[in-house]
Amino acid sequence: MAKAKSTGFFCRECGYESSKWMGQCPACKAWNTMVEAPSAPTSSGTAAGRYAAAASLTAAPGKRVGAQAKPVSLDEIELSDTDRTRTGFAELDRVLGSGVVRGSLVLVGGDPGIGKSTLLLQVCRNLAGQEQKVLYVSGEESLKQIKLRASRIGTVRGPLSFLSETNLDTIAEVIREVRPDVVVIDSIQTMFIEAAGSAPGSVSQVRECTGVLMQLAKGLGVTVFIVGHVTKEGVVAGPRMLEHMVDTVLYFEGDRHASYRILRGVKNRFGSTNEIGVFEMREEGLAEVPNPSEFMLEGRPAEASGAVTACSMEGTRPILLEVQALVSKTNFGLPRRTAAGVDYNRVNLLMAVLEKRCRYALSGYDAYVNIAGGMKMNEPALDLAIVMALISSYKDRPLDEKTIVFGEVGLSGEVRAVSMAEQRVHEAVKMGFTRCILPMVNVSKLKPRSDIRLEGVANVREAIGLL
Ligand code: TYD
Ligand code: MG
Repeated sequence: MAKAKSTGFFCRECGYESSKWMGQCPACKAWNTMVEAPSAPTSSGTAAGRYAAAASLTAAPGKRVGAQAKPVSLDEIELSDTDRTRTGFAELDRVLGSGVVRGSLVLVGGDPGIGKSTLLLQVCRNLAGQEQKVLYVSGEESLKQIKLRASRIGTVRGPLSFLSETNLDTIAEVIREVRPDVVVIDSIQTMFIEAAGSAPGSVSQVRECTGVLMQLAKGLGVTVFIVGHVTKEGVVAGPRMLEHMVDTVLYFEGDRHASYRILRGVKNRFGSTNEIGVFEMREEGLAEVPNPSEFMLEGRPAEASGAVTACSMEGTRPILLEVQALVSKTNFGLPRRTAAGVDYNRVNLLMAVLEKRCRYALSGYDAYVNIAGGMKMNEPALDLAIVMALISSYKDRPLDEKTIVFGEVGLSGEVRAVSMAEQRVHEAVKMGFTRCILPMVNVSKLKPRSDIRLEGVANVREAIGLL
């Protein structure tokens, strides 16, 4: 008699299921990612069953559609203002797209100790203050530890309750009984469902648990925040599928040694993914940073060679930051190049442009490029600032400290136009800058201004001439 199959193999990256082990996942082509785990139970509690149930519930909230599923037109779908709730953090609301949508699933990922639990506890406090019924479930900390953290962030008022539990069946029962408006699950990797039969944090557990949470969120209209751990590679641990299942994926990142934290949206079914939120970790929890430029430029050296202020856009928001470069004669045959906060290959490319187009013999020099404050930026508009910082350090000639620089550099040394030049210039004026070096193409499209001197450059050589 054939034995009922109870285990299968899953890809840790994408969740692909197979009956036999394979060295390479046929779906995502990752090597050595197949792990053995019990197959999903074949009862109605399977992941597939849950997705289907959740999907039908999303389609018609509050109504169970069965055989008589009926398509509707857009006009027939009603929206109400109460669908979005402000979280009390303008920075978080912006990333979510002006508040959190009722009944949505929000995944918050990030390195350990970055402040995910603190952020969500503060959000819970804010929401409870607005008379929202909030349930905070922690599978990582005891109630005592939560209390200690809560005492750091200040007074907590309103209908906020806590549960220290890892069994998701129990948690689901509590949610059905208590009917909270908002639930926080900290973290998904500690949760388990008995029927799935594998260890917490495994592919099948994460998938099953998220399935149950999705059903609760869509079925009962509960907003669920899920904390997810991040692996060394910087993706949420467990299957990629987790990211596909939820409505919104936010990453909380930052340098552990610096106090600022950045909340970035990587997926959002209800808003843009370009926006970022900036926070600062303080003794008493996270505080919003409404003006990141001021924060990033704090402690800037006056008239130092190799330091150039640049303007980068994060979504619709301009952020001024300091690009630093140090160019010094190499002691060994092979010059060293490092880049912190900017793309290493981009720095190499820009140095090659300087060698070839401007005839600077940089191959005999070490070069270190850094963004002060530990911020990571990946925008071509920083190119010109990097180039000017490198040459400023090479020639030991400082750029006047009231000058801001932005522009993309092409391989023939041309300075190309960047988007949203107007907003960048505006931010520079706001921060007290009086001179702006920018692409020539952008200057012609900008209105002339009296509060800042706009100097357009067509190529790298012209820009360096301004040093
Ligand atoms: P935590 O929220 O526990 O991180 P995560 O849940 O992402 O693992 O944050 C822990 C860090 O934050 C810890 O190193 C201490 C620091 N912290 C503060 O600086 N101030 C505070 O008020 C709190 C609560 C934590
Ligand atoms: Mg935590």
